[in-house]
Amino acid sequence: MTPRPQPATGSASGKVILFGEHAVVYGAPAIAVPINGLRATATFTPAADSLSELEIVADGIALNTRLSKLATGHPLAAAILETLRSLTIPNPPAGKLQVQSTIPAAAGLGSSAAVTIALARALAASLSRELTPHAAAHIAQSVETLQHGTASGIDPTVIAHNTALYFKKGSDPIFLQPSKSLMLIVADTGEPGSTRNAVAAVRARYDANPSHHQTIFAQIGALSDAARGWLANGAQAELGELMHENQRLLQLLGVSTTMLDNLCAAARQSGAFGAKLTGAGTGGCMIALVDRQTAGRVQAALLAAGAKTASINDLAPATL
Ligand code: PMV
Repeated sequence: MTPRPQPATGSASGKVILFGEHAVVYGAPAIAVPINGLRATATFTPAADSLSELEIVADGIALNTRLSKLATGHPLAAAILETLRSLTIPNPPAGKLQVQSTIPAAAGLGSSAAVTIALARALAASLSRELTPHAAAHIAQSVETLQHGTASGIDPTVIAHNTALYFKKGSDPIFLQPSKSLMLIVADTGEPGSTRNAVAAVRARYDANPSHHQTIFAQIGALSDAARGWLANGAQAELGELMHENQRLLQLLGVSTTMLDNLCAAARQSGAFGAKLTGAGTGGCMIALVDRQTAGRVQAALLAAGAKTASINDLAPATL
């Protein structure tokens, strides 16, 4: 029997990939960190009458409907159904599930995985059930695979564990403990990037020339390995150089754009240690590594170069 549901809230952070996107799909290591300033939140309010259905309200996408009216492949429906399956709850609880997110969608910041995990946490809490980070990541990975085709699992993993990590597909993540805070500017090109299309485009190029692409993936993986050590020491100049090199390799993979390249150049010219696109690319966001002295100048340069937004994120070791 489905337990009597309680009012509950769940939330999850956004994330950025510091090193290794795309290569991670082919088994190379990558590094990602949570961005706690960006959050998805889900709130469950039980219905007065247990015969009511589960209603979903997501103002950000102008959605207000009953679960039974949503196609099962809809990401919110899939998130709910996967959560119920994971918790072995036969029927959705009666009530209203409201979803909100400050994470821009299609920007490479983990919006879809964060929404799924926030929703899974709210549902689990409403039913007084525990949801481990491992189970939350598993639920989000099922939804990501449905949405994006091939997905390495890095987004669900970093968001579910809410900690900086070194990730290799198919292996347990290694949690990182950066010694110093990391100051990152996240700038949005305003051009939506489709993860599904970007991953498919890299796949097509890989299929046309596997050995060339394997070399690029191995080079990107080596950057993640090197970065793991520098992150532990807080060596910003070295990390910045590795980011620059990673961006060059992402250009070779064909997932950067003129706007992303221009923003990376503007960041470096105005004093950032390094800059690169983050996530799937083909639009979306870039990141620049800065310090307190350069942050304001780099932020202004990014906005002047056409970024739609440029937020300064001071990620303290305790939040990584
Ligand atoms: O754009 P995002 O945040 O979904 O990042 C995708 C990262 C890729 O490496 C391109 C794909 C994946 O599944 O790892």
